[in-house]
Amino acid sequence: ATPLRIALAGLGTVGAGVIRLLEANGALIERRAGRPIQITAVSARDRTKDRGVDLSPYAWEDDMTAMAARDDVDVVVELVGGSDGPALTLARNTLQSGKSLVTANKAMIAHHGLSLAQSAEAQGVALKYEAAVAGGIPVVKGMREGAAANVIERIYGILNGTCNYVLSTMEDTGRDFDDVLKEAQDLGYAEADPGFDIDGVDAAHKLSILASIAFGTRLDFQAVDMIGITRVRAADIAQAASLGYVIRLIGMADVDHDDEGARLLQRVQPYLVPLDHPLAAVDGPTNAVVAEGNFVGRLLFQGAGAGDGPTASAVMADIIDIARGELGAPFSIPVAELEEMPRADA
Ligand code: NAP
Ligand code: HSE
Repeated sequence: ATPLRIALAGLGTVGAGVIRLLEANGALIERRAGRPIQITAVSARDRTKDRGVDLSPYAWEDDMTAMAARDDVDVVVELVGGSDGPALTLARNTLQSGKSLVTANKAMIAHHGLSLAQSAEAQGVALKYEAAVAGGIPVVKGMREGAAANVIERIYGILNGTCNYVLSTMEDTGRDFDDVLKEAQDLGYAEADPGFDIDGVDAAHKLSILASIAFGTRLDFQAVDMIGITRVRAADIAQAASLGYVIRLIGMADVDHDDEGARLLQRVQPYLVPLDHPLAAVDGPTNAVVAEGNFVGRLLFQGAGAGDGPTASAVMADIIDIARGELGAPFSIPVAELEEMPRADA
């Protein structure tokens, strides 16, 4: 069978994880994809860096934004990060040249997802971003496909592995915020700028993407109210525990109906979670997403929300879909049909 040829932009935690996953599970992936998946070209900033993987089989591309134009590339996988800059240029180049794009970049999807999706729709190619929301949990597929027949009334959950690691480790060990955050960075969970994690921005990116899929509304990241975890102290966690609660950073989106119609509420903030609630037991870099549908009832998606293996797994699942010819729709419905819903504070 004809191989699907991949350009890999970004060789950090996730990019190197994708190479390791393909090395370890290549035969199984080929069977499931129906054809070999072959990385042909790679790119990052520093060609000399030791990434713990053998890059010698692949062509090195100095200008990653030119990867889409290569004749030996069918699909571009963007694992660089950043809402704009080279990641966005590469994404636009890829879709405009009629090639499919796989990305783990929630910042880029939250800011430019609609225009990228329009470009993918116009070209009849795939824009896939399973890894952008909740790492290894197939929640984008779950919402877009599994819950497709439902009116979703509410969606909420733990969407940032770094914050959850910090809060739950402080809770278990009494250790200092900065010390645990440094550990989360060393483990590869945090964003290049961990301010995106601890200020709630990363969770807000993911929430806005999920809300768009769940409610069929236009993605509106700017409308997310957000408060991060930087002001949570060890004493707050201890006091919450004495009252029977844990503190978790939770993103929540729902549609508020009143006499004037429907309004979209999107919020990320630390919540007190009662110990008997399923989200209270979610520890470490784990994420959990709850969706309430009018026929399916309450769905709980849970698993590793960050880290190389889980995130690479989600990236590879998207690549397998494309290899099978399952391009899918970037959002639940065509971008032109997404509803413009007023914000709850409007
Ligand atoms: P990372 O470890 O910082 O790796 C980023 C890679 O991009 C590096 O290889 C870096 O090159 C390259 N890069 C960065 N800026 C560049 C530039 N201007 N030009 C060329 N190359 C550049 O990041 P990561 O954790 O793998 O995350 C990658 C993406 O996945 C981000 O969008 C992130 O939000 C998303 N994501 C991460 C996780 C996770 O658990 N880490 C989970 C889900 C989604 P050098 O190595 O040469 O510096
Ligand atoms: N920095 C992100 C997190 C990576 O901690 O959840 C996964 O999106």
